[in-house]
Amino acid sequence: MPEPVDRATIEALRADFRARLSSSATDRDLQTLNDDFLGRRSGTVTGLLKSLGTVPANARRDIGQLVNTLKREIESAIHDRRAALASSRPPADAVDVTLPAREIPIGRVHPLMRVRQQVEDIFARMGYEVLEGPEVEDDYHNFEALNMPPDHPARDMQDTLYLNAPIAGGTWGAHMDPVPEAQVRAATLLRTHTSAMQIRYMKTFPPPIRIIVPGRVYRRDSLDLSHTPMFQQCEGLVVGPGITLADLKGTFEAMLRELFGDVRVRLRPSFFPYTEPSAEIDISCQSCGGDGCGTCKRTGWIEILGSGMVHPAVLEAVGYDPEQVTGFAFGIGMERVAMLKYGVDDIRLFYENDLRFLEQFPV
Ligand code: DAH
Repeated sequence: MPEPVDRATIEALRADFRARLSSSATDRDLQTLNDDFLGRRSGTVTGLLKSLGTVPANARRDIGQLVNTLKREIESAIHDRRAALASSRPPADAVDVTLPAREIPIGRVHPLMRVRQQVEDIFARMGYEVLEGPEVEDDYHNFEALNMPPDHPARDMQDTLYLNAPIAGGTWGAHMDPVPEAQVRAATLLRTHTSAMQIRYMKTFPPPIRIIVPGRVYRRDSLDLSHTPMFQQCEGLVVGPGITLADLKGTFEAMLRELFGDVRVRLRPSFFPYTEPSAEIDISCQSCGGDGCGTCKRTGWIEILGSGMVHPAVLEAVGYDPEQVTGFAFGIGMERVAMLKYGVDDIRLFYENDLRFLEQFPV
């Protein structure tokens, strides 16, 4: 025989229900609550209603009413709580502002471009004009006008990539150093240095001039730690009355300290056909502070660029008067600068586009 239903049982059930309701936070909790109390088979309140027959006849009506009241109370409490949950639920298309943001991959500036931008920036602040030139060149601009006639041994310094078929007039430079139709020069090679642009510029504009020419150059080189068949240079040219070697040195003391920080700068005699005198410009080795180490091959110095005073033959080739104007020129390799600045020991890394390498540079 089940225990007869009395008031105390009903009150205990009510208290139990209130406690469980207050800890019900989801639809599923409410469903469980509903089943436990009102379920057709085993709900506790349903059970009470079924056992009303055991209540003494004189109390049955009152007890029956109390159980029914509890039942309705439970039904409406669950109903209200369900409605409250539904109204606090965000709509299906709502944006949850508390979710962590999705990461959007951002590309970054390639280390060579960073260096190029820095170099351009430094020279632009010194009043230089920045321009580009054609990568497909002709022999005249790349060699001949730069004081390298056809049999000149210096041409071997730069093993050249020639085109299979010449391109009449070149691919680019029609507006710079334009020549009469009859003399249109066929572009036959990939420029081996940005120096070719010196000639185009000087043939187009009178002195004084102050330009830099960043861009790609090409040589017949095999890939290794320090060679790629394509690389980046930045040419520079300053021509005007009274330009001296002191201007060249002063320019690079300022420029290289800005680029590399606190370094010493020295000029070392060298040879280029288009400059006289010619100089390599070195900076003191940053790895050892000039004492000598593996990076600088124990010399304490690191070669950064080639330079010199523009050869009178070059000035004459473009129609300038070497008695009236002088100038200095330079060519700086971007990869070399980037390798030193960022401690990169293999030039090929710049061209492999390996994200593990590229992602090491800031955005
Ligand atoms: N053209 C040279 C090179 O390819 C660099 C260079 C040296 C450029 C001396 C110049 C210069 O304008 O005066 O290595």
